[in-house]
This record gives sequence, structure tokens and C-alpha cells, in this order.
Amino acid sequence: MAAEKNEGVEKMEKVVSLCKRRGFVFQGSEIYGGLKGTWDLGPLGVALNNRIKSEWWKMFVDGREDMYGLDAAILMNAKVWEASGHTGAGFCDPLVEDTETGERYRADHLLKDVGINADGMALPDIDAAITANNIKSPKGNPLSPARQFNLMFETTIGATAGPDGKVYLRPETAQGIFVNFKNVVDSMSPKMPFGIGQIGKAFRNEIAPREFLFRVREFEQMEIEYFVKPEDWEVQFEAWRVALWNWFDHLGLKRENVQEFEVPENDLAHYSKRTIDFEYNYPGKGFDELAGFAYRTDHDLKSHMNASGVSMEYIEPDGTRFIPHVLEPSFGVGRALTAVLVEAYQEDEMNGEVRTYLKLPAHLAPYRVAVSPLLKNKPELVEKAREVFSLLKKEFGNVAWDDNGNVGKRYRRQDEIGTPYCIVIDFDTLGEENPEQKDTVTIRHRDTGEQERVAIADLISKLK
Ligand code: GAP
Repeated sequence: MAAEKNEGVEKMEKVVSLCKRRGFVFQGSEIYGGLKGTWDLGPLGVALNNRIKSEWWKMFVDGREDMYGLDAAILMNAKVWEASGHTGAGFCDPLVEDTETGERYRADHLLKDVGINADGMALPDIDAAITANNIKSPKGNPLSPARQFNLMFETTIGATAGPDGKVYLRPETAQGIFVNFKNVVDSMSPKMPFGIGQIGKAFRNEIAPREFLFRVREFEQMEIEYFVKPEDWEVQFEAWRVALWNWFDHLGLKRENVQEFEVPENDLAHYSKRTIDFEYNYPGKGFDELAGFAYRTDHDLKSHMNASGVSMEYIEPDGTRFIPHVLEPSFGVGRALTAVLVEAYQEDEMNGEVRTYLKLPAHLAPYRVAVSPLLKNKPELVEKAREVFSLLKKEFGNVAWDDNGNVGKRYRRQDEIGTPYCIVIDFDTLGEENPEQKDTVTIRHRDTGEQERVAIADLISKLK
């Protein structure tokens, strides 16, 4: 077990190092020593991230008749968060301080480290468990009593500070959907059941950001609020459960690395009657939340209706009125990106050398294909290779030009960033020695290293 954990930690370290070395993920504000809980996506990271988001949109919004898209503002009226319950105790984590250094820790994490599950525990019970187990801060100092810490980032809007200007950076994209429910119903006349999908940034002032992209203070969510008749929620819940599994398959995650976790009643979020967390087996960490799937009842629409005075009722063609209930599949993009990267990370032996490669599904890879001339100092090869490059670039967009070093080195470089195919233009392409090979190229496959000869005219259909 310990050996497996060490192996996992080592694998995660290798992935994090590859992410930095090859331009996937950089530390936020790195040249100033970083900013805890923030990460920047480099050229390949943003390519992979955008692919995850566009595949999600294709599957859950464009690919369905019952879904609508939305892009709400990050800054929202403070009343939204009062009505949703986020300003209260429901959106807090238990915080303790090192009484000497003032450093802050999550009390439930410190208890988890000694095998105590503090989910849903009241503050006095947390204090009692800390005392009974003689838990100190990681620096070895006594801890303060636990208190609730709200995770929302506050800021002020406009030129004058004061209570009227207080706003929050949204801690979930979901509320942007709820407050636009009536707008979407009035403008699109959707039939029940229907859903609204949104992708965007969310912010949480996490007490202890950690584990790479897993727990950060600024992240992206892809969320769906699916509105149903109250009596239909269980049937729809089962249908969405299947849809979520299909999504994880589409990301290339092995089924054995994904599991469902039924959240116990005492640990449900303040808005939820039932939640299943979909967990991924992160190397060195084990199974932890990748996405959440909650039944939020009519909590949000009802709360906004009561607080704003605006009706959130849906009216059926026969005049029946009701407040829809809602199912919420909620995905963190960063956690998906991490899962995709660690799942794809492979080491094998090729031509007597250890090679590292990312076995990314072609629909997610930052580059679908790389094109190179066999030799970069032969103008006739370069010219032909440029022709092929332009043809493919026009079709796919994400095509790399790579003429650095020898062909073997180019293959290794492209393997490491997950490019599924490399195309080389050689003297046979020009038809100088073998006229029958004219206008054909070599395609080399990332996973097997196998090569085949393909006519340029067939390239696009071959790579699709
Ligand atoms: N609207 C429901 C909601 O926000 P959540 O379980 O708090 O539910 C949903 O968050 C997803 O957002 C999580 O499954 C996770 O993927 C992602 N997420 C939440 N907090 C995060 C954080 N601090 N860092 C990175 N991802 C986070």
C-alpha cells in the first residue's frame, strides 16, 4: 500500500514537472514568488483546457435538444448570495490557527490526517477531537479553537467603499443560471424538462489550497442546472448519472479509476437532498472528487423567488404552475484536466530508450498532428512540407510545425505532449527515386511508433 502511494506521488511529481517543462501549467505570478492557490495555463495547457470545455459543450449543450447555453457575469448583486445561503454558515470551512505563527489550517484536514472524519462535525466537537488526539499545527504549536470561515471573496464595486458597494466573486457558476431562469423561460419557451449549461470562472478563498490544480482559489466550472417536474427527479437523476459516465469515458478516463461516492446526509451541502460525488483515483492521493452531481430540489429558485419577489414558476401549456426542481451535474475543469493528464501519462521502452508520452485521446490533444521536413536545409523538402502543413492547418487548426533536431528527437518531443500523429515529408514524397511514392508521406503513430505511407490526398480523412 505504502509502495503504491509512493509510486503515485512520484508519478504526480513527474506530471507536474512535465506540465511546467512543456508549457501546460505554470505557477501563478511565478516571477514574484507565486500567489498561493493560483495557476496559469501555458500554450499547451490552454489548448487542452479549451478542448475539454468545447467537448463538454458539444456533448451537453449543442448535442442535446433540451439544453440551452448561458454566460452570466462573475460579479453579481450581493443579494444573490444572501438568498442562496452562501453568506451563511453553509458555505464555510472550519478554520484553526497556529497560536504562535498565526498560520491557518483547515481543522477537518488536520483531523483527517489522523484518521478522523470531521464531515458535518459541530465546532465544539472539532475542538474536543483536537484536544483528545493532542493535535498540534504542522509547525508543532498549539491550535486556536475552531471557527467557521466563509469561502467567498469579497470586493467593493464603484468608487465609494461601504456596505452598499459590497459584492462577492461568484463561488459557483450555478447562481448565474438560477437568476436567469425566468429570462431563459421567457425568451426561449423551453418545454419541461430542460437544462441550462454554463462554463466560467469561480473563486473560493480556500484556507488550504493544495495538490496542484485540485484545490485552488480561482478555477473554472462547467455546470448544468436541469429543471424537472418535482415528481420526475428520480428518473432524471438516473438518466444524468449515465450521461456523466459517458462524459468520463469521452475524457479517456478508465472506468476503474472513476467511482461514485454517495455523500452521507450529514455532509450534504446546504442546498442538497442527495449528492453523488464522482471521484477520480488521483495518483498518490487516491479517490477524491472530480465532479459533483446534486439534487438541489427547488431550494434555489424558491429562495430567489422569496428574496426578489419575482416569480420563478413554470407554467405548463395547460396552465399548471409549479416551481421546478433541479438536478445539477457540476464539473471542475482543472480537476478534469489533471485527471486527463495523469491518465494519459505513460512510460515505455522504445528503441532501447525509456520514453515518456501522453496517450491523450486525439479529440483532446493540444496538437492533432505535427508536420516536418526530413531535413530542414533542403528547400525542396521544406517547400513540400509547408504545403502539407498549410493544408492540414486549414482543416484542423491545431497542427504543429516541427523541424528542430533529427526526426527521432522530434518524435520524442511530440510524444511527450501527446501529439497522436507525426508526418514526415521525405525524398520519396518528391518522387525522385521512387516515382510511385510521389505525393505520399510517412505517418508515425504515437502509441505504437508504427509508421505507414499515406497519399497526401488521403491525409485529411485519415487524420479525422
Ligand atoms: N454548484 C455546485 C458546486 O459548486 P462543488 O462540489 O462545491 O459544487 C463543483 O464544486 C466542482 O467544482 C467540484 O467537483 C470540483 O471539480 C470543482 N471545485 C470546487 N472547488 C474547487 C477548488 N477549490 N479548486 C478546484 N476545483 C474546485
